[in-house]
Amino acid sequence: MKITVLGAAGGIGQALSLLLKMKLPAGFKLALYDVAPVTPGIAVDLSHIPTDVAVKGFAGDDLPKALEGSNVVVICAGIARKPGMDRSDLFRFNASVIENLVSAGASICPNACFCIITNPVNSMVPVAAEVLKRAGVYNPQKLFGVTMLDVIRAETFVAHSLDRAAGTIRVNVIGGHSGKTILPVMSQVGGFEFTDEEAAALVHHIQDAGTEVVEAKAGNGSATLAMAAAAYRFVNAVVRGLMGEENVVECAYVEGGSPHSRFFSQPMRLGKEGWYKVLPYGPLTQAEKASLEGMLPTLRDEIRQGEDFILKPEPAQPAEKSS
Ligand code: LMR
Repeated sequence: MKITVLGAAGGIGQALSLLLKMKLPAGFKLALYDVAPVTPGIAVDLSHIPTDVAVKGFAGDDLPKALEGSNVVVICAGIARKPGMDRSDLFRFNASVIENLVSAGASICPNACFCIITNPVNSMVPVAAEVLKRAGVYNPQKLFGVTMLDVIRAETFVAHSLDRAAGTIRVNVIGGHSGKTILPVMSQVGGFEFTDEEAAALVHHIQDAGTEVVEAKAGNGSATLAMAAAAYRFVNAVVRGLMGEENVVECAYVEGGSPHSRFFSQPMRLGKEGWYKVLPYGPLTQAEKASLEGMLPTLRDEIRQGEDFILKPEPAQPAEKSS
């Protein structure tokens, strides 16, 4: 099986590539692509790690070679936000990046699973969907927005708050990946009951965690390492499903699984052809229902923005006349 990382020279891409090189099963191929000329060198560097995962790096015009025969394409290319910015401020630049990369994927490896990390995820996944549709190869079962970072944050913060060992708590996070569209389902954390105040404080921390990292990094980027760990967990789940393992369940942002909006994040089963069954996330409390209702206008707007980028592109500005 072949995994391709697009944006492999960036902070997320390098850390994710390291995790994949170290942890993928023997015999897997890993292709790294970035516009940055350093990318083949990153692959050489990784190739010295003693695992049986073959790694190759590509840069510049060699995107097709990186995508050839790929089963899973992970996209973390694009720009990151700086303090004072929202994820939506990245839209214009990153939407073009996603359009170009997914167009190439649509023609070279149309049957691959596409996992989108690039922000704003809520809008980039609709961009990718419309690009795949335009190419006539869209399979909603194989397009994922990676919202796992919210899940690992929720699991970490909840475990700390309950004084439990990290990794022992599972939390579903539904909705999307921006501000109030991130909705951790605290009422369904097995075996615990939070007061409304405790739940609200945890939810606020999870929703704000991306901004916390952006501010702490003081203008030098956003979450890369936790994002890479989250992406590794998700890509590994996709791979396990593709390889025929049963009962692989994770949350992801996909089309077709929810009455709430065209794209929605929720737990789902992953299998040989991508995701195949959305799972219930349990009954919501009144407060959670209100949060869900409250997020939907934002989520739907962010989805529409992504769709419109492809379906209703703004006319090119006329070049200024020189006198
Ligand atoms: C995050 O949640 O950390 C990422 O989406 C990056 C960001 O800009 O917040």
